[in-house]
Amino acid sequence: MPSQLTAHRSSALAGKVRAPGDKSMSHRSMIFGGMAVGVTTVEGLLEGDDVLASARAVEAFGAKVERTGEGEWRIEGAGGFKTPLSVIDCGNAGTGVRLLMGAAAGYPLTATFDGDASLRKRPMKRVTGPLADMGARFGWLAAEDRVPVALTGGTLTGIDYVQTVASAQIKSAILLAGLNAEGVTTVTEPEKSRDHTERMLRAFGAEVVVEEQGEGWKITLKGGQPLKATHVAVPGDPSSAAFPLAAGLIVPGSEVTVEGVMLNSLRTGLFDTWIEMGADLTIDNRREAGGEDVGDITARYSQLKGVVVPEERAASMIDEYPILAATAAFADGVTVMRGVGEMRVKESDRISLMVEGLRACGVQVEEEPEGFLVTGGPVQGGATVATAHDHRIAMSHLILGLAAEQPVSVLDPEMIATSFPGFVDMINGLGGEID
Ligand code: S3P
Repeated sequence: MPSQLTAHRSSALAGKVRAPGDKSMSHRSMIFGGMAVGVTTVEGLLEGDDVLASARAVEAFGAKVERTGEGEWRIEGAGGFKTPLSVIDCGNAGTGVRLLMGAAAGYPLTATFDGDASLRKRPMKRVTGPLADMGARFGWLAAEDRVPVALTGGTLTGIDYVQTVASAQIKSAILLAGLNAEGVTTVTEPEKSRDHTERMLRAFGAEVVVEEQGEGWKITLKGGQPLKATHVAVPGDPSSAAFPLAAGLIVPGSEVTVEGVMLNSLRTGLFDTWIEMGADLTIDNRREAGGEDVGDITARYSQLKGVVVPEERAASMIDEYPILAATAAFADGVTVMRGVGEMRVKESDRISLMVEGLRACGVQVEEEPEGFLVTGGPVQGGATVATAHDHRIAMSHLILGLAAEQPVSVLDPEMIATSFPGFVDMINGLGGEID
């Protein structure tokens, strides 16, 4: 991939495409398959760099991992992880490193986890803290709260953990450790976060009890439950589908359909928000696939209007605020996005990078500590935007550039391959102009 990509004002986009496999489910299928006894088969796996790093990790922990076709993988779990001979390099993947630390903590092993420059800046104590309370030991090798970190796993005891932020990564790490802990582990969430771990643990034969509690829920898991290999069909990623759909909404005359998109309601906050903004977004062919609701989504060009995004919706669209902001730049009026401080600890500080990038393109944006406000109108573009190697920042600005007056370039776009390897070809195949 070149060191920068440029999106040009495009004429109407049209066509049907298929979203790449869901990243959250792809990581989980690799990790659970690696922990299980027997052969797990996966179809529709996202073959992005983040998931491939998880595949290499479970291999290093002792599983046999093999690609058997496009998106088709076979994972032969050894029924437990062993000490790896080399450092576990999770690349750019926060989900990978946090879930793998939870999974590994319950086995008698030592392992060092590391990642790229972006991952080395992200907070890890949110996961190592509760895992240490369960009995795992961690040694920071460079700086506290950051990878590289050395883990010594072993005999764990279940805990009752009450989360302060709704985070599926923290919840999942604790539940995976709880599988091999003595006694019962519970995780209570203030608001519901994505529940792929709970659903997939059940598919792998574990008993998981979920009780509603206020706005959130309490998840209970008994220790000493071995996972049994199974087949996982990974549906399309709504977080990736968002990009071609956004292009459909903002480029005049467009009609874009993305087929096979997962519609788990804990992931679809962006689609609800777009509909409130007046988007012509329709969902057809609703069905079930891989234990999830799935459908085909069509986006037609729409003159959007600004809205206040309810703060309690944040967990169901936390990765989607960058692309929401890009579409809000074309809306009438102001779009208010608050209660999203977590955006600052993703692959980059996504609030600050979106504010900088949109402003460089002539968009009026106001930054707050835990949010930002975008005032829509015609978008000038004509800028080269820094992405801090963040895939979603790069893709959001490229989509913006398809409808801006002047071209928009993004620096360091290679990270797009972490979640959406075919992004440029897909957008150009629909009639967009990115080069
Ligand atoms: C993910 C959970 C979210 C999300 C990330 C994937 C997951 O992070 O941002 O891209 O697969 O569990 P948090 O759980 O930290 O909010």
